[in-house]
Amino acid sequence: MTTLAQTGATPQLGSTTKKSFGKTPDGQPVDLYVFTNKSGAEASITNYGGALVSLKMPDRNGKVADILLGYDNADGYAGDKSYFGALVGRYGNRIGHAQFVLDGKTYTLAKNNGDNTLHGGVKGFNKALWTAKTLPAKDGQSLELSYLSKDGEEGFPGNLKVSVIYTLTDTNALRIVYTATTDKKTVLNLTSHGYFNLAGQGSGDILGHLLTIQADQFTPVDSGLIPTGELRDVMDTPFDFRKPTAIGARIDQPDEQLKLGGGYDHNFVLRMPMDKGEYLAARLLEPTSGRVMEVWTTEPGIQFYTGNFLDGKTVGKGGIAYPKRSAFCLETQHFPDSPNQPKFPSVVLNPGARYHTVTTYKFSVEK
Ligand code: BGC
Repeated sequence: MTTLAQTGATPQLGSTTKKSFGKTPDGQPVDLYVFTNKSGAEASITNYGGALVSLKMPDRNGKVADILLGYDNADGYAGDKSYFGALVGRYGNRIGHAQFVLDGKTYTLAKNNGDNTLHGGVKGFNKALWTAKTLPAKDGQSLELSYLSKDGEEGFPGNLKVSVIYTLTDTNALRIVYTATTDKKTVLNLTSHGYFNLAGQGSGDILGHLLTIQADQFTPVDSGLIPTGELRDVMDTPFDFRKPTAIGARIDQPDEQLKLGGGYDHNFVLRMPMDKGEYLAARLLEPTSGRVMEVWTTEPGIQFYTGNFLDGKTVGKGGIAYPKRSAFCLETQHFPDSPNQPKFPSVVLNPGARYHTVTTYKFSVEK
C-alpha cells in the first residue's frame, strides 16, 4: 500500500514520502517526493522545475547507487544553469535566432544561448513551481505535476496546460508521460534532462559506458548548435552507435561535428516503427557495475549530450563537483529548431488537440 508520510523517517518499500526541500528564490515552499519501490529502487522528484533529483538503482551485486547528477536542495536548482534532471519546456533544445513564424506571425523569444533560445528561454519550465499530486499506479507509484504556462510566457503563444506524470514502477522503470493542451496554436517540445552516470554520480567520467542508439541518421549542426537541415547517415562517422560502442571510443576524433559540439551534443533521428507506442531508442551498459539503462519513447529524436559544458565548478549532491563528461544525457524530443525547419516532424499544437508523449527509462543489470 502507498503511504504518504510527512516525516523524514526512512521510507518503507513501496512507499511515498514527502519532505521539505527548501524555498524558491521568491520564498515559496518546495517539496521533495521520495518513492521507494518493491525492488528497493528509489526516485526523488521535486515540484521545483519538476526535477528528477535522484534515482537509486542496484548494480549486479544488488548494491544501490544514485545514478543522477543533481543538488541537495531547492537553492541548488534555483542557481542551476545545466538543467540537472529538469522538466524542459516549452521548447526543449534550441530555436534558431530566437524566433519562429506561425500563421504569418513572427514570435520573438529570449536569446539565452548566443543568438538562439535554449530550453524554453530565460525562465523555462525548469524554474517553474509545479503543482504536485501523488497517484496510485497499476505497476508502481506516480507523481502528477501540473503547470499552466500563460499566453505569452517567454514569448510563446497560447495558454498551455501541461501535466507530467512520473511513475516509478516495481520493476525498476521510470516512466514519464507528458500531456498538454492549448487555447491558441503554438509549438511544444517537452523533455526530461537527466544527467546519468550508471556507475554512480561523482564516480568519474562516462566514457566507458557502452551505448547503442537505434538511429541511422543524425542532424548535423552549425557553430550555434542549430541543425543545418541535413539528415546525415551515421555510417562511417563517430555517430554510428548502431552496435554497442564505448562513448569515449571516438569522442576526441578530429571530426568537424564533434568539434562543434565539444563532444557529442547532437540529435539522432530514431528508427521509428510504423505502429504507435513506445519503442526502444537507446541502450546503455556500464561494464563495472553491470547497470543497464534502456530508453523507450514515442518521440522521433533523441539528444545525446556528453556533459561537455560541465567544468568541475558546479557542486552538486553531497558536495561533489561535477567535471566535464561526468554524465551523459539522452533527451527524447522532436528535433531542435523544428519551428524553423519545415522538413522536420511538426511541433505545432493546435487548440482542441492533445499533446501526448511517453518516455520510459528501464533499468536492469547484466551479470
Ligand atoms: C544541450 C546542450 C546544453 C545542455 C544544458 C543539452 O540539451 O544540447 O548544448 O549545454 O542541454 O543546457
